[in-house]
Amino acid sequence: AIDPNFEESREVVEEHEGHRVWGPVEEPETLGIHGTHVAVDFDICLEDGACLEDCPVDVFEWVETPGHPESERKADPANESQCIDCMLCVDVCPVDAIDVDPG
Ligand code: SF4
Ligand code: F3S
Ligand code: ZN
Repeated sequence: AIDPNFEESREVVEEHEGHRVWGPVEEPETLGIHGTHVAVDFDICLEDGACLEDCPVDVFEWVETPGHPESERKADPANESQCIDCMLCVDVCPVDAIDVDPG
């Protein structure tokens, strides 16, 4: 499962589509965590898709990640600022790849 304390245990290594990426990143095998308020551990995500289907405000968009051992598509929190903290995505992800911090 995603480490809920990733903001302490990791460092921001880049930006992607307006959100932070928490390292380490070593493409294509290691991709890190995308987003902060809505955080997706790309190294755990296996392309289930429930988060994209269920999010009521369409926070997630697919991003291609060829060569990653878990899956070659990830749910990117492209619109994390739209999140209404319903927690549906956290509940439906079968591998607990998502952390939402209502702060
Ligand atoms: Fe979407 Fe709700 Fe998840 Fe926020 S908590 S990203 S609104 S499903
Ligand atoms: Fe990935 Fe979980 Fe969504 S596996 S596609 S983050 S439901
Ligand atoms: Zn991203």
